[in-house]
Amino acid sequence: MRSRNILALIILVVAWGAVLGTTYASGPDRRGSRLDRELQAALAQAGFSGTIEATLEERLGRALDRRLADVGRLLWFDTIIGLNDDNTCAGCHAPAAGFGDTQSIAIGIENNGVVGPNRAGPRNMRRSPMVINSAFYPALMWNGRFFARSGDPFDNRAGFSFPPPEGDSLSGLDHLLVAQAFIPPTERTEVTGFAFEGDSDAIRAEVLARLNATPAYRRLFGRIYPEVRAGGPITFAMFGQAIAEFELTLTFANAPIDRYARGELDALSAELKRGALLFFGKARCVQCHSVAGASNEMFSDFRGHNIAVPQIAPSHTNNAFDGPGANEDFGLEQLTGDPADRYKFRTAPLRNVAVQPTFMHNGAYTSLEGAIRHHLDVAEALRRYSPAVQGLDADLAGPLGPIEPVLDRLDPLLAEPIALREAEFRQLVAFVRNGLLDPRARPERLRRLIPEALPSGRQPLVFEDP
Ligand code: HEC
Ligand code: HEC
Repeated sequence: MRSRNILALIILVVAWGAVLGTTYASGPDRRGSRLDRELQAALAQAGFSGTIEATLEERLGRALDRRLADVGRLLWFDTIIGLNDDNTCAGCHAPAAGFGDTQSIAIGIENNGVVGPNRAGPRNMRRSPMVINSAFYPALMWNGRFFARSGDPFDNRAGFSFPPPEGDSLSGLDHLLVAQAFIPPTERTEVTGFAFEGDSDAIRAEVLARLNATPAYRRLFGRIYPEVRAGGPITFAMFGQAIAEFELTLTFANAPIDRYARGELDALSAELKRGALLFFGKARCVQCHSVAGASNEMFSDFRGHNIAVPQIAPSHTNNAFDGPGANEDFGLEQLTGDPADRYKFRTAPLRNVAVQPTFMHNGAYTSLEGAIRHHLDVAEALRRYSPAVQGLDADLAGPLGPIEPVLDRLDPLLAEPIALREAEFRQLVAFVRNGLLDPRARPERLRRLIPEALPSGRQPLVFEDP
């Protein structure tokens, strides 16, 4: 009796296995339709796997520290870190804009306390990029001037390169973002103001003096660092680690394109698949917005290119613009001193770009369509550009900086127009807008990170709805 039961069980298992086997083999083709086969081949060729987010903690060599990140979040929103007392990271890197700018060109000190469309004050020089996913950027800033020599922001063994005065002095820190956090508090037009006298180290010492004089911050850092608990000072490395840890938690790199690449064939609609195929193929986007190797699947080669973006010159600025008319931005040349690098800017990483209100290093475009259409015929787009048509704020309405010197140095990759039919253009835009958007980056979700009260007891900035 018992052996008969066992025999029946074996037959059942074998039969079930056979059923599963045939379903697997003759059921819906795992590789999907012809469109799917083409797109999967294009992704494989481009080096895209859709698995980058999962590498974060492994490359960090530890789990994220949520408590440390939360201290970073509070600092992010607290004007205690800005010696001018009216700005902080969140004034420019706003939660409802993917922790990027609400403006075309950033407004730093002497602002009106508002973060959103109605922010006002003197302009700086460029738009604040989104810090979401910057954990994976091997080079930071629009001209890539802060970079990991190894090509990997998680690997400091070859050093982190910064322009003077920092130079290589920040190379001992764990991640490029920890090093980067040493810079913004020392920027006069961003948060420091002009009243405080002293160099960058003196400014940092003053910021630390403020934090160390605030019992709530001492308690928060003390929970994480035993040496603070034992009475020692909060250091700038601790500040940088807290800020960077918060930034690391802003990793939202699980978009429909990632799920698709991992085998979820219905993560993209047919329209988005066609758009993706254009992006990785005929439209040539991936030539610069690359995903292979050191680009960490961030849709950027992290190199400088001159794509003939219109030169917006604010009528009221506290920064020094380039060129004889002080109405230009020389981009990468500022770093290398090489005139061949004039007007080159880092290829913009494209993940979650749909949540941005403006586009390009100076927000010259106010729609994703506009920013993408620019690429199709850059010379034509630059000559026909009008700030009024884009609806730029009055202080950015022109006159524009020079045009012909920009076209003289145009990147050869965009010298020939990219020919797309109108329907193809719509598919391409739809892919960039929706296929690269991780739902966790949406404004309604990130707004929840705005603290209700700050450890310093200061009044938070006013965050408008987008
Ligand atoms: C006045 C506005 C402003 C403030 C305040 C500000 N930033 Fe920025 N941030 C910018 C701008 C503009 C850039 C790009 C500048 C450039 O490329 O020259 C930038 C770039 C960055 C980047 C590099 C992003 C990338 O894509 O490469 C990081 C990271 C960053 N900021 C973090 C911070 C942190 C942390 C704070 C607060 C301690 C802060 N920022 C304060 C405007 C601001
Ligand atoms: C020659 C290299 C190159 C090619 C090819 C290219 N781009 Fe770009 N793209 C850039 C650079 C560089 C920037 C940033 C320019 C600036 O701000 O000065 C940029 C910016 C953008 C932006 C604005 C993003 C932001 O955050 O402001 C979008 C969107 C974009 N590209 C999409 C595309 C699409 C879609 C294609 C294919 C049709 C494409 N690009 C082809 C280099 C390129």
